[in-house]
Amino acid sequence: MAHKSSLRTPRDAPEFRRRLLRWFRRHGRDLPWRRTRDPYRVLVSEFMLQQTQVARVEGYYARFLERYPDIHALAHAPPAAVRESWAGLGYYRRAANLHRLAREVVRDRDGTLPSEPKELRTLPGVGPYTAGAVASFAFERRTAAVDTNVARVIRRAFHPRLPARGAERRLWDTASAIVPRAGRPAWTFNQAIMELGALVCTARVARCGECPVRPACATGRRVR
Ligand code: ADE
Repeated sequence: MAHKSSLRTPRDAPEFRRRLLRWFRRHGRDLPWRRTRDPYRVLVSEFMLQQTQVARVEGYYARFLERYPDIHALAHAPPAAVRESWAGLGYYRRAANLHRLAREVVRDRDGTLPSEPKELRTLPGVGPYTAGAVASFAFERRTAAVDTNVARVIRRAFHPRLPARGAERRLWDTASAIVPRAGRPAWTFNQAIMELGALVCTARVARCGECPVRPACATGRRVR
């Protein structure tokens, strides 16, 4: 009962999910971090993707992992070398946090990343989004991962009258209510909703005419 109000499931949720997953199976991009469940590799991808476009991240991701193939290699690298591997991606605080995180996890947890979003959040540079993304993409946990793309999709589909900013709590609640069960379904759903936000339900224009979830979307049903 405690979760009753926060886990209200929108009526369109089942159809939204069905359509989204069907679309993703055909149109989802084959990205390197979607071919692994290795928590370290997923973590590195999410740190890189925090403020950098997919196309730019792809090359850096491969090179970074060649240089630091696991969390121990990263933990033991000199800070200047890590910074240098990040050169070009910008926002170096991310690299410093990732490096600090690796050292902490190697020192305190034997190099094993936690799977629980709450525990992930205690690590350097890990906010609610990154914690959800790692829990879902590495451990296939049933948890939401709401970045700006996902927030926009959820808002347009289920809460078209909420403001674009300041409604995060509500959007997380809805996202949490509609993620399917743990395992492949949760993983696929979170990748898919992110992909829809990146390719179709974009910031500047919602391409409702070509949107696979349109009949299950409050905004899509309204626009012509
Ligand atoms: N941005 C953040 N995480 C992502 C992912 N797993 N795939 C594509 N874009 C992303």
